[in-house]
Amino acid sequence: MPVLNSVAEFRATAAEWRRHLHQNPELDFGVHETAAFVVERLRDFGVDEIEFGIARTGVVALIRGRLGDGPVIGLRADMDALPIHEATGKAWASRIDGRMHACGHDGHTVMLLGAARHLAETRNFRGAVALIFQPAEEGAGGGRAMVEDGFMERFGITEVYGMHNMPGIDVGSFGICDGPIMAALDEFDILVTGKGGHAGLPHQAIDPIIISAQILLGLQTIVSRGTDPLQSLVITATKIHAGEAYNIIPTTCEIAGTVRTLIPALRDFAETRIEAVAQSIAECYGARAELRYRRHDPVTVNSPAGTRRALAAAANVVGADKVNAQVRPVMASEDFAFMLEARPGAFIFLGNGPSAALHNPAYDFDDDALPVGISYWVSLVETALAE
Ligand code: NI
Repeated sequence: MPVLNSVAEFRATAAEWRRHLHQNPELDFGVHETAAFVVERLRDFGVDEIEFGIARTGVVALIRGRLGDGPVIGLRADMDALPIHEATGKAWASRIDGRMHACGHDGHTVMLLGAARHLAETRNFRGAVALIFQPAEEGAGGGRAMVEDGFMERFGITEVYGMHNMPGIDVGSFGICDGPIMAALDEFDILVTGKGGHAGLPHQAIDPIIISAQILLGLQTIVSRGTDPLQSLVITATKIHAGEAYNIIPTTCEIAGTVRTLIPALRDFAETRIEAVAQSIAECYGARAELRYRRHDPVTVNSPAGTRRALAAAANVVGADKVNAQVRPVMASEDFAFMLEARPGAFIFLGNGPSAALHNPAYDFDDDALPVGISYWVSLVETALAE
């Protein structure tokens, strides 16, 4: 089953829809117009059930197959854009200053709509497919909020699949791997409290800047001296703030940053070690260090059976030679990870060709990838829910 004829014919409409969404980007949970656009089309297609307002603006629709009872598999797209000023110069560039679809979620939304249209018409599968449109993928926790809302239980979903476009992979190709494919993301803040004083009388103060400098260097040894060199852990301090004046030693210094890993157990390790390094260094100079550590996205982990299904579905559309089954995991995070924690399944990368990078002001989704992604979803449903 290469790109389906009916899907190829739908390409022009899909591109029109994609460009409409691209011109009207919305952020986080505020994807009201986008969700309304989705709901209107799902109703036109004649889906069997539709629920909206999940986690404020999420939408889930159900299409039952005509081949009898069976499991319910979930397919997920994200709908939100980013607070970036667009610089593509395209005719369909964002109409809203300071907002743009720089991660291709406009393309993801339209591909899932395209699949819904085809599946509602043909229904060539057993069981049912749940189409999941989520808000707030870009850091505001939409995936988690939807899972906590309980839609998986309400719709009886047993497996769940996601797809993200990827610059650098050819249009018409896919990449996937078994196991971890995207990293976990945690954030930390360290507050170092010393004793403020006069810059010319340092012996009467406890300088939190010097102590923080040593903590920063200490953080660098957590990975280099503390973890297996073949395991991935990235600790990056991205902010350091202290002081207001040339002649004052400040009382406090704040350090902040992120921890990323492909191995869930290393999150506990990183938290414990960051705290130990910060507190022991501060203590040895008579200062105090407090750590705040927040866990965001878990590791995005593909299940073995989900990976096999996704691989087969992709190969079915583009040929096995265009599917890299051992793509390198990416150390960015993805909040579809919450759905994959709740149910087994797989996340796949869809080639976006030589475009600008994700989250870059010059990025744009390649409309030639639309029929490929739509066909992948259809192929996945028809193979996973074959008679
Ligand atoms: Ni994205």
